[in-house]
Amino acid sequence: MNKALVVGNWKMNCSLEEAKTLAREISEVLSELKGVEIVLCPPYPYLVPVKIEIENSSIRLGAQNLYWEGKGAFTGEVSVTMISEICEYVIIGHSERRQIFGETDEIVNQKLSSAIKFGIFPILCVGENLTQRENGEASSVVSRQIEACLDGIQSPNGLAVAYEPIWAIGTGVAATPEIVSEVMGGTITGTLNRIYGEERTAQIPLLYGGSVTGQNIESFAALDCISGALVGGASLRSNEFSEIASITSRVKTSG
Ligand code: PGA
Repeated sequence: MNKALVVGNWKMNCSLEEAKTLAREISEVLSELKGVEIVLCPPYPYLVPVKIEIENSSIRLGAQNLYWEGKGAFTGEVSVTMISEICEYVIIGHSERRQIFGETDEIVNQKLSSAIKFGIFPILCVGENLTQRENGEASSVVSRQIEACLDGIQSPNGLAVAYEPIWAIGTGVAATPEIVSEVMGGTITGTLNRIYGEERTAQIPLLYGGSVTGQNIESFAALDCISGALVGGASLRSNEFSEIASITSRVKTSG
């Protein structure tokens, strides 16, 4: 079985004090939680302060991005080796990186390879936009993204895939469990099976992301094709994030 994961993507939010408080509150409530790994992904400057807050708990640390070179003249970037010294996880290819910062599947592929090479567990984000969904292209877009992003990557065991339809991110309109089943249980699982075979694919946690809340998490966690969630807005509220993690743990450990 793959591991259940609940990942908080704080994006570019919080002051330093707010970040420390949020991390402390979450680790106080969730450090004993069983059956699900909790990962916090704060902005770069807060990685170390958050790491200090969570160091005596079971909560893990992730980055929101990395640059694949180890070091050198890359002003403003943070390297894979730097991230590997501090974090166990990294989010790669989030749609905001693709849309706002022009990351292509090729760039995502390079970042994924380097994360795996340096022992960081990457969470690959894929998902269609609204026009693509309305045109009936969701499945082909997602499967193309997976194939391109994972091209040449031989080690799928240390990797998670998050399905984040762009129209569901930050909108308050989550995908329905039917859509999630179709894309994650159908397209994503099918594409990974073709690349890695069923046995190895079964080891890859699949996460849903896009307007996940304390109210809707149960309907997603109940799906067999899902191992957890990538949570944006709701991860900035310690009570709600803790609720999402606790519900995921209850649902995933009861089956
Ligand atoms: P959201 O963001 O939960 O605020 O929709 C999810 C994400 O972008 O990872």
